[in-house]
Amino acid sequence: MKTLLKDLGTVTAIIGAQWGDEGKGKMTDILGSHFDVLARACGGANAGHTIVVGGKKHVFRLLPSGCLHEGKPVVLGSGMVIHLPTLLEEIDILKAAGVEILDRLLISSGAHIVFDFHKAIDAAMEEKRENGIGTTKKGIGPAYMDKAARSGIRIERLKDDLKSELTARAKDVQEKYGVIVDLDTELKNIADARTQLLHRIVPSLPVLMHSFLSEKKTILIEGAQATLLDLDHGTYPYVTSSFTTSSGALQGLGMPPRSLSSCIGVIKAYCTRVGSGEFLTEEAGPIGDRLRERGGEYGSVTGRPRRCGWLHLPDVMYAGYVNGFSCFNLTKLDVLDEEEQIPVGIGKNAAGTVEYRVMKGWKTSTQGVRDWNKLPTEAREYIEFIETFTKVPVRLIGTGQAREDIIVR
Ligand code: GDP
Ligand code: IMO
Ligand code: MG
Repeated sequence: MKTLLKDLGTVTAIIGAQWGDEGKGKMTDILGSHFDVLARACGGANAGHTIVVGGKKHVFRLLPSGCLHEGKPVVLGSGMVIHLPTLLEEIDILKAAGVEILDRLLISSGAHIVFDFHKAIDAAMEEKRENGIGTTKKGIGPAYMDKAARSGIRIERLKDDLKSELTARAKDVQEKYGVIVDLDTELKNIADARTQLLHRIVPSLPVLMHSFLSEKKTILIEGAQATLLDLDHGTYPYVTSSFTTSSGALQGLGMPPRSLSSCIGVIKAYCTRVGSGEFLTEEAGPIGDRLRERGGEYGSVTGRPRRCGWLHLPDVMYAGYVNGFSCFNLTKLDVLDEEEQIPVGIGKNAAGTVEYRVMKGWKTSTQGVRDWNKLPTEAREYIEFIETFTKVPVRLIGTGQAREDIIVR
């Protein structure tokens, strides 16, 4: 771990290289104890990051997964869209588990508020689409629409009386989308958040992040969503509405690109996707079902079954071009323990179908293995093939849900 940390340097971003749910949360939790500041940059409660510590499961939606490590400042970036009741609920759940967040929470004044009506608009828009995107219905798209239209309401407005503005907005929303806004609930949500969060708002995030950098504090940025869901570089239109890459993360936090010292690409040993859109190596039949059951591939936000299939190396290389990966964290290796053979997508042939390199399975448990040399030969060959093909070293390997189930190389 010491060598890895030295190589990672002062500012590290943890970025999903597929379609999300790669295991970014677990990586953030593991590395979190070694960094001074923990940050989320973009996205909202469409994220669901699960970690397992001491046999107990925690699901993070808006807060970075590293925040179980006490005492560290926790930053929510300007690139985020925040549903305030969800944030307060998350803070309360952690408090009940003995983890205090409020006194170290730093929320950018520039983050946007997700109202309940954004969620209702999200659902209404999804209903109308001929080919649904399969959004999480957390109001993400509509909140970013308001942001881009410059009619969004930012966290800095928490101090204001928003009644007349929201009343006018309610009228608009009803006319445009047929959505009835529950004004009393929206105003109550704002009032609750005002009481608890007003003093946690940072007027200028770039100034704060700059001060961390000049004090030589180390910063760990937890990405949300993933590269293939990025609004610019993902599989548009089947994407989310934010920038999910390493540069998106820096933009969301108001940090200069050159401040990033490393970027960990998180890849699942196979591949999953929730929602619609292309998935070249998908196994829609019994093989996909087997991966789903073994990997527990059900969305932590919506409970939807995740579509499952094989790793597609050109995609993770593409993600590397966008993010500049220093190394990979390969997760959920143990899920493949029972497979006889493991196909890996290596590209498309002239007819446009995916070609596979079929790797030999190891048919023995890797669950909880913590030492590279204790992995079965075939598992090491699988990982080495990924490294040779992508030219990116796999320095972290997940072998189970628990914080301890990790190999560091
Ligand atoms: P994220 O959104 O990228 O943080 O990923 P999720 O938390 O949505 O999904 C990853 C799931 O896999 C979670 O339930 C994790 O507890 C679990 N997980 C992470 N790493 C491993 C691993 O190495 N092995 C196994 N079996 N489960 C893992
Ligand atoms: P984490 O951070 C997996 C997907 C949705 C849908 C598309 C758009 O846990 O990896 P949205 O609600 O964002 O407008 O939905 O993006 N999606 C995710 N899939 N993991 C996520 O986050 C996701 N966040 C959004 O399923 O296909
Ligand atoms: Mg997730």
